[in-house]
Amino acid sequence: MPSYLDHNATTPVDPRVVEAMLPYLAGPYGNPSSLHRYGRLARDAVERARAQVAALIGAQPGEILWTSGGTEANNLALKGLCQGEPQGRVLYGATEHPAVMEAAESLRAQGWVVEPVAVDAGGLIEAPAFRAQLRAGPLRVVSLMWANNETGVVQDLAPWVEPVHAGGGWLHVDATQAAGKLPLDFAALGADLMTVSSHKLYGPKGIGALALRAEVDLQAQLHGGAQEKGLRGGTENLPAIVGFGVAAELAAAELAQRAAHCLALRERLDAGLRALPGLRLFAGGVERLPNTSQFGLDGWEGEALLMHLDRLGYAVSSGSACASGSGEPSHVLLAMGVDPLIAKGAVRVSLGKDSREAEVDGFLAALRGLLRS
Ligand SMILES: Cc1ncc(COP(=O)(O)O)c(C=O)c1O
Repeated sequence: MPSYLDHNATTPVDPRVVEAMLPYLAGPYGNPSSLHRYGRLARDAVERARAQVAALIGAQPGEILWTSGGTEANNLALKGLCQGEPQGRVLYGATEHPAVMEAAESLRAQGWVVEPVAVDAGGLIEAPAFRAQLRAGPLRVVSLMWANNETGVVQDLAPWVEPVHAGGGWLHVDATQAAGKLPLDFAALGADLMTVSSHKLYGPKGIGALALRAEVDLQAQLHGGAQEKGLRGGTENLPAIVGFGVAAELAAAELAQRAAHCLALRERLDAGLRALPGLRLFAGGVERLPNTSQFGLDGWEGEALLMHLDRLGYAVSSGSACASGSGEPSHVLLAMGVDPLIAKGAVRVSLGKDSREAEVDGFLAALRGLLRS
């Protein structure tokens, strides 16, 4: 059986989640907007899931807005905050996922001033430069990720909430990779909007959420029915919503155990990686997600290495799944000042709750074998 070590790209759906979803695929459940009993059953299921997702991230159920995933939630946050507003500034972290970066960049064409926020060699926000950027004129929105999908770098966002607000901006946090891996508290952080996605935490694909504080003034990007308070029209994807809810509940209950399991495996992996000649572990000295390690190897193309490893039975990624195949070095590593040649050799290993020690050892042995060949 090949080893799947690419959990930041997506996770397998937990069998307990599948079980919970089945009645909503096969059963006589109605449209949650219908007033009859079938509709009411569906509505109850949607609201139960809303409470489950809210509980995972420290939000109120009424703050959760369903979307089709992280990409839609990020687009809705950035475009929905800017549309129809007087022009201002839009800032986003230089290592953001394309779903933030491209959404922000699309606003430039509409006259918005759009600026990346620089990071240091460890992938952390360059504090003095960011402080100056925040004071350089009125802000509309600042979008920063809780944890990076490629390097796993975890940002400490708490110190930035007040300065973003003082500059007149809303703070949007992309927590797509952090949810289910780290304890999150939307209320305690004090951010205004936060993105999460089901398929990163053993739920189905194509469902996500934007947490949104009541006072945030957001314009709908999908017009239609009055679903989701008129902010996102369209009949709810009931089985997926139910699955996301159960996945969130399981993630909350098992968070500490999953994180400890992944961290022990990652430390084993990192020790093996550090012993390899010519290997560079990116962001090796900063806090990372407990399941993620990304490294570069002198003289190797990441994609070639990835294909060899795949043949040997190990599924890893050469960077973000979205950028792979492009042959371009990852923008995340370039923003961290990594040499483009080394960045092109990047490989990401992302462990999961069911990963095993033998898989880590086998992966390291396969890598050692390739380096000798
Ligand atoms: C940090 C981050 N944001 C957003 C997304 C997009 O999420 P989705 O695949 O649910 O659209 C991803 C997916 O890789 C991600 O890692």
